[in-house]
Amino acid sequence: MYDLLIKNGILVTPAESMKANIYVKDEKIAAITDTSSVMEAGRVIDAEGRYVYPGFIDTHVHSRDGGATYKEDFFHSTRAAVAGGLTTIFEMPNAVPAVVDKESFEAQKANLLSKAHVDFAMWGLCVGRLNNDKLRELSECGVGAFKFFWGYAIDKKTYSLIYNYDPSDPNVIPPFDDGEVYSIFEEVAKTGKPIAIHAENADLIKELTANVDVSKYENEFEALLACRPSLAEVLVVNTAIEYAKDTGARLHILHISAKETPEIIRKARRGGVSVTGETCPHYLYLTDKDYDRIGSMIKCYPPVRYQEDQDALWESLKDDTLSLVCSDHAPHTKEEKTGSLFKIPSGMCGLETLAPLMIQAVNDGRIDKNQLARLMSEEPAKMFGIYPQKGSLELGTDADITIVDFDKEYEVDQEKFQSVSKVTAFDGMKIKGCPVYGILRGHVIMENGVITEDEPMGRFIKA
Ligand code: DOR
Ligand code: ZN
Repeated sequence: MYDLLIKNGILVTPAESMKANIYVKDEKIAAITDTSSVMEAGRVIDAEGRYVYPGFIDTHVHSRDGGATYKEDFFHSTRAAVAGGLTTIFEMPNAVPAVVDKESFEAQKANLLSKAHVDFAMWGLCVGRLNNDKLRELSECGVGAFKFFWGYAIDKKTYSLIYNYDPSDPNVIPPFDDGEVYSIFEEVAKTGKPIAIHAENADLIKELTANVDVSKYENEFEALLACRPSLAEVLVVNTAIEYAKDTGARLHILHISAKETPEIIRKARRGGVSVTGETCPHYLYLTDKDYDRIGSMIKCYPPVRYQEDQDALWESLKDDTLSLVCSDHAPHTKEEKTGSLFKIPSGMCGLETLAPLMIQAVNDGRIDKNQLARLMSEEPAKMFGIYPQKGSLELGTDADITIVDFDKEYEVDQEKFQSVSKVTAFDGMKIKGCPVYGILRGHVIMENGVITEDEPMGRFIKA
């Protein structure tokens, strides 16, 4: 007898869609059959008219645990993941203490494990010569990839990000120079894992910001954009591609915001460079024009830009230039997010809106149903080393499943978010289509947006 049967749904992978019954036994996918007959199972879910995806994955989550648990913690962020139809997340390494070596990795893994409502993998952080010699041991611990915040100054003691850099601050490590960044690429290349970069050029931003009387323009989104233009992204992406070419590192460009970047990636790939990219719903659904309506909650780094940037990003999903879409879940409190655009921190919640917004994109004809499986399941797992255990519907793999109803209407209400900080630019948005079941290793963890397992049952997934 099987533990769970999901019958009559349409199974969706990047390669195909087919009506089938899918059976789970001992947390694994045990059988996939046609729908003409059924075998016995402990629980049966009728998915008639619905779509059965490999569990959705979010590779880009900042849960602030530890360091800033007043903003968010892993207990709440993973509940947000459950509510949002996700079954695996990748936790970013810029916590306190930061994940920079084996010791901090093991401590953070134990910390996260006790609170995880979904399965999780972990990132390692690159802080230049401060931990170049630890990347190999981090790789052996099983990090999915290495993150480098190119262009960010960091706190001397904690390596926390400095959102608004003041060069006269003695407690800060200035952004690493390009020579030191090259050494990071060399070291990550030796591990064979991807180096994923935040791409903004600090020197350019510093220069442009110095020319602006920020107190005068503190509520002008246009002024923020003028200080952090697409050029800041383009400069870093181009340098990174040269570094990847030279060192053989696998380069991944995080949260792409600029229209130029997808074309740079296409060209580099044609030239044989190993480079991939991702973007986030805020770059796909928002532009500068939304600032008047949304206000400072829209602020993130890199910033949301113009309509032509948004159009180019949709195009780069449609033609498979980008590999995945993720939330960059980066909560701050409402109080912190209120004030001068040049002083408040960047980022917003994203875990609960990622999947609904990408399902909406299918309904809007921006991507197709199979591309949704590519962007939210298969590629995230493949790129960061957890495929086919995650991201597939293959026999014998973890029975992680997200069932999608493309017709169900859903309205974003940030007050109902599971996160500690309830801040999104999408509050009040009406979305057509959303996940209706979340299944983690065969256990139903979400039904119609309601969390059905109170105990944290997530496991660490070694990449
Ligand atoms: O807006 C952002 N917030 N961008 C980042 O790169 C970091 C993030 C955060 O951690 O707050
Ligand atoms: Zn991020």
